[in-house]
Amino acid sequence: MAYEVIIPAAGQGKRMGLGKNKLFLEIEGLPVFIHTLQVFEKDNNCDGIWLVVSAQDKKEMQSIVEKYGVKKIRGIVEGGKERQNSVFHAVKKISNQTIVLVHDAARPFIQVEQLARLTEAAEEKGAAVLAVPIKDTVKKVEGDLVVETVERSSLWAIQTPQAFRVSILKEAHEKAELDTSLGTDDASLVERLGLPVQIIEGNYDNIKLTTPEDIYFAEAIITKRRNK
Ligand code: CTP
Ligand code: MG
Repeated sequence: MAYEVIIPAAGQGKRMGLGKNKLFLEIEGLPVFIHTLQVFEKDNNCDGIWLVVSAQDKKEMQSIVEKYGVKKIRGIVEGGKERQNSVFHAVKKISNQTIVLVHDAARPFIQVEQLARLTEAAEEKGAAVLAVPIKDTVKKVEGDLVVETVERSSLWAIQTPQAFRVSILKEAHEKAELDTSLGTDDASLVERLGLPVQIIEGNYDNIKLTTPEDIYFAEAIITKRRNK
């Protein structure tokens, strides 16, 4: 199933604390966002990549993309204040015929094998997300007191990529813009339309590089894959 992918990379990486966008961080000699782009570059079903960058990082990211010869780039789009704004800027550019994936540049360990099931589910159901069952016990807390222990068997940690029929993702973002509502992922905007979102079970190693300790996890994942 052919698709195009939107890759939001226009954040600032504040929680990583590097004083620059965490996506420039090199893992095995390659910037994080190049690792991510290369997964889609090598997936035969991927017809095009829309990379969303901040005004500040645009030149540098563009030249790194050229340096590594990423050929599927259809456009480099300027991002917005929040992740949702960044994705919306790219959503507006995509034609209605295709399936679209949205995948955080900060998740470089996504593997090609996981993409086919996700895109097929999106074609069938309209929207699908990769997710893993939560391992921790989750409690709702007010102040410093537990209010409730949430039944874990129904809790999933939601990742990207998230896949959509383009018409659905467009409608979801347009409505969110009109309502000035912000979601932390794209699927939540589809949920607000009252439409179904299918869960596809993914891998625990599809981590998002967010805080400094994630770099140790990243190194462990790379070592594991190298020794396979
Ligand atoms: N992102 C984006 N535009 C924004 C904010 C985030 O395109 N205005 C992107 C990030 O570059 C990242 C993805 O969305 O690839 C997930 O966001 P997150 O992990 O929160 O990254 P940052 O926003 O960069 O980090 P922080 O929240 O710690 O500043
Ligand atoms: Mg952020």
